[in-house]
Amino acid sequence: MPYYTKLGKLPSKRHIQFRRPDGKLYAEEVFGTEGFVGPTSTLYHINPPTQVIGWTALYSTKVEYVERDTMRMRHVKSMPLPPKGDPVTGRVVLFGNNDVEISVCVPDEPMKYFFKNGMADECFFIHFGSGTVYTMFGALKFGPRDYIVIPKGTIYQFVFDAQKQGEPEPRFLLMESVNGSHILPPPRYLSKKTAQFLEHAPYCERDLRTPEMPMTFDKKGKHEVRIKSRDLVHSYQYSYHPLDVVGWDGCYYPYCFNIDDFSPIVGKHHMPPPTHQTFEAHNFVICSFCPRPLDFHPQAIVVPYNHSNLDSDEVLYYVEGNYKARKGIEVGSLSLHPQGIPHGPHPGTPEATIGATHTNELAVMCDTFAPLYPTKAALELDDLHYPRSWEHGWEPDAATNGAAADRPSNGHANGKSSKTSKTGKNGAKNGAKDGATKGGRLVEAKTPAKTSAKSGKARAQASKSANTWD
Ligand SMILES: [Fe+2]
Repeated sequence: MPYYTKLGKLPSKRHIQFRRPDGKLYAEEVFGTEGFVGPTSTLYHINPPTQVIGWTALYSTKVEYVERDTMRMRHVKSMPLPPKGDPVTGRVVLFGNNDVEISVCVPDEPMKYFFKNGMADECFFIHFGSGTVYTMFGALKFGPRDYIVIPKGTIYQFVFDAQKQGEPEPRFLLMESVNGSHILPPPRYLSKKTAQFLEHAPYCERDLRTPEMPMTFDKKGKHEVRIKSRDLVHSYQYSYHPLDVVGWDGCYYPYCFNIDDFSPIVGKHHMPPPTHQTFEAHNFVICSFCPRPLDFHPQAIVVPYNHSNLDSDEVLYYVEGNYKARKGIEVGSLSLHPQGIPHGPHPGTPEATIGATHTNELAVMCDTFAPLYPTKAALELDDLHYPRSWEHGWEPDAATNGAAADRPSNGHANGKSSKTSKTGKNGAKNGAKDGATKGGRLVEAKTPAKTSAKSGKARAQASKSANTWD
């Protein structure tokens, strides 16, 4: 993270004597990035962190992609993925390239070891399940809809709570940087002088949950730490508990952020995807599409315009909402829209959604600046009918007419539009004002407000067309 925090016991100065109760020195470790000119933290261990015993090569993590020459829209239903492995070995990469790997994990066994990703920052999105991730920086309690950002080199162990009766099995989405870059808030959200989140940012420091106690485990004995590096997971043995830090401070640490704490930026007219941006790394961004009032111009088209994001592939992971108007899309679906073809609402959807005032969509998007490739696992879950749903004549199902506004209504982000952010700030202000003075407008898309006779006629036409499509 770009801002400073601390936890536990610290000496008054860096690099001075700091002693354990038994009189011996704590072992100081500077945990630095970018050649020690990037975000850095300083940790104090009970045991020298250099005391690592032996190693064993366990398994390769090199991802094999397929259909690298094929460019088409894809839809992968991840819900049928059977539970397997633990929160590390159970990860199934579905899409990726040389910058990011996107995987889904449905773990069915606990981690019996600690893990360190020595190659990448990891951004988890917990879809279902709760628990605690114990890290060398402290503990992070997590629950559904939490992002958890764990920076490269952090030793951690996920412990999921026991699944309660009636609850979905634990499941998370993972976006892993594989190009060595770090996953951070967009720079345009931050003050250049202090790294403080600016007023137009859709979240701020108060929304981020930093590590808490317990942090220190003073135990001897064999502990396995699996380290991912060079596309290989190595098993290392520690002769003490690897989470033995008594204190740390700095700007490099894991944290949680719940997507419900993302404050959507809305506007009089349709807002572009960068307003949904949450994180970014080199060559990819992560966005949050959250429930919000829709555009409030009297003649607004509330679904996105057709668009070509000429430099990006985009993956949407559908978390929650009414997806009936996007045929085949369901909770846990991942859609991939490549940069080579324009995309947008299904035929008839713009008319059908006129007058809708609110969306209940909840989705996480990962946009990349290089083509994404599927894995064999993705192809096994591939919905081959999805690209055909844009064929001429496709209309929303009459039974779900108008519900399209409940699906993720956006596509892509480039993460570099400061102008857009300024617009978004004004839009948010106007949207709040509008919501306050016209509270009755906030109705579900299924029962659109009567904005005009013309729009009512349009809905009727769309409904009729939908019947024809059936
Ligand atoms: Fe898009």
